[in-house]
Amino acid sequence: MDVKIIETKTPKELPDDSKLGFGRLFSDHMFNMDYNPEQDWHNARIESYAPIIMDPATMVLHYGQTIFEGLKAYRTSNEKIQLFRPDENMARFNRSARLMCIPQIDEAFVLHALKKLVSIDKEWVPRAPETSLYVRPTIIAMDHYLGVRPSNTYRLFIILSPVGAYYPEGFNPVTIWVTDKYVRTVRGGLGEAKTAANYAASLYGAEVAKKAGYTQVLWLDAIEQRYIEEVGTMNILFVINGELVTPPLGGNILAGITRDSVLTLARDWNIPAAERPITIDEVMAAHKDGSLQEIFGSGTAAVISPVSHLAWQDQVLTVGDGGVGPMAQRFYEAITDIQYGRAEDPFGWIVPVDEA
Ligand code: COI
Repeated sequence: MDVKIIETKTPKELPDDSKLGFGRLFSDHMFNMDYNPEQDWHNARIESYAPIIMDPATMVLHYGQTIFEGLKAYRTSNEKIQLFRPDENMARFNRSARLMCIPQIDEAFVLHALKKLVSIDKEWVPRAPETSLYVRPTIIAMDHYLGVRPSNTYRLFIILSPVGAYYPEGFNPVTIWVTDKYVRTVRGGLGEAKTAANYAASLYGAEVAKKAGYTQVLWLDAIEQRYIEEVGTMNILFVINGELVTPPLGGNILAGITRDSVLTLARDWNIPAAERPITIDEVMAAHKDGSLQEIFGSGTAAVISPVSHLAWQDQVLTVGDGGVGPMAQRFYEAITDIQYGRAEDPFGWIVPVDEA
């Protein structure tokens, strides 16, 4: 299948790189492709960024049958545009699709289309330090029908948004509120799918956290409410007694690509790293006996996000001295140096888009 290209006749003005924020601005073009059982995925095209006009009965609006991905395109100092582990995003897109009864995509083809789109809109990849072009591939159920079943027709689209830091804090520490009242997902649920429902489930708890003065909410498991799972928009890692500890992927947790990159780097650096169940009680005890050294989150949007305070029931603990810990700093620098082409890429993580 070819990607048809219809260039926009009304290009927008490029934004000021120093005032981007996250996810508010969108580039000139988008990729679209449709699915029906007769034609499979078809009509692949790059065209002007535009609204999707929908019948009010379109299934995605009612039952949330939708999945998405998030990755970034980076501009290097010598003006090359590159992606970070995009094949992992494509593989996860298909894993989410399976759980959400959405037809599989041809990962190599969608990645090819994604590179083509980024290449057409490459002027939208910002230049200011630590900015990038966020890429959001999405699939939505398109049947017009009010019965509950998987849709027969779908739209896959990819949009691009020039972004700065996800949190207003930037790389400065964020504060986390642990909830034993709300839950995000449960064993056998959709927790590992990148689907709207998981983010919808996180909104109320995140608002409560925000009202209490915290940046984000940390979810515990829904059954015993002891085991740490993840934060609303990132995975979570602890440094206890020199060991990096993060909850295992067991179906409830999003298989973060930045999380995997941190674990890969830790192994490469001979830092002990364990993916194992960790309870909130263990974290509180480690803080009490002085062995809790750092907490940080990882995610595509958030990159590495140090945590300065953790609130649990009636206790608020300060992690380390409340600043950026050395491990968080080292991972942040190593990952962003590879992403922006400032360092060698010994792991084969970088995929150039220029020749797409
Ligand atoms: C990402 O890190 O890419 C995410 O998807 C988190 C959030 C912006 C939904």
